[in-house]
Amino acid sequence: TRVLGDVVFENVDFGYTEGKIVLHDVALYAKPGQKIAFVGSTGAGKTTITNLINRFYPIMDGKIRYDGININKIHKSDLRQSLGIVLQDTHLFTGTVAENIRYGKLDATDEEVIKAAKLANADGFIQHLPEGYNSILTGDGGSLSQGQRQLLAIARAAIANPPVLILDEATSSIDTRTEAIVQQGMDRLMEGRTVFVIAHRLSTVKNSDVIMVLEQGRIIEKGSHNDLIMQKGKYYQLYTG
Ligand code: CTP
Ligand code: MG
Repeated sequence: TRVLGDVVFENVDFGYTEGKIVLHDVALYAKPGQKIAFVGSTGAGKTTITNLINRFYPIMDGKIRYDGININKIHKSDLRQSLGIVLQDTHLFTGTVAENIRYGKLDATDEEVIKAAKLANADGFIQHLPEGYNSILTGDGGSLSQGQRQLLAIARAAIANPPVLILDEATSSIDTRTEAIVQQGMDRLMEGRTVFVIAHRLSTVKNSDVIMVLEQGRIIEKGSHNDLIMQKGKYYQLYTG
């Protein structure tokens, strides 16, 4: 059974090693379909929170629940099916474009592959490759641009159709036109899912339902863009920079 996408953290404490706590008393409530953005300086704990949503590590104190169920009681395969991840650097493997997309759902039909590629805005560039969907990518996808690799990552996440999505936005600059294409694919991918995004683009942050500002492992501010601007705290400082 897949989760609906209701995710809660209650007073979560966590450290990678005994004695060094990196998240303190983190509380978080995401309703199905909400978009939650994490912002904060390097080392603040953004990636760590997404690691815990993925249950990559056990927490030290507190509770994490999906649809009210303790994360530790959810079957590993159910959790895996419920979560999609799009990271800054997508791992592509040696194989065809179609195989690289199908990695998100191994029994997907050709039609599903094309549908996911279209949703991701990847269909256009794929059609222009010499062999289309059957073009072979080398191990690291080196023959593709960074933007094209991102579009494949979006297609791969879309084909799995997960209720919960974790995004780590790329910091590196791609040209404006490509960025708009990637953004449109991302927007379509996010639609109707609970999304946790480590946000670098201001447009993403502004459009999130809840922005969480992290500092040294604590959530120091949370609210909508407008709430936080009015609050004139850390977010306001970052934004008006
Ligand atoms: N940390 C650790 N062991 C790890 C990973 C991280 O001890 N395997 C520590 C880091 O040194 C940091 C804290 O955990 O003090 C939070 O790290 P992280 O969540 O990765 O910070 P981010 O906010 O994701 O930082 P960045 O913007 O640089 O990605
Ligand atoms: Mg990080």
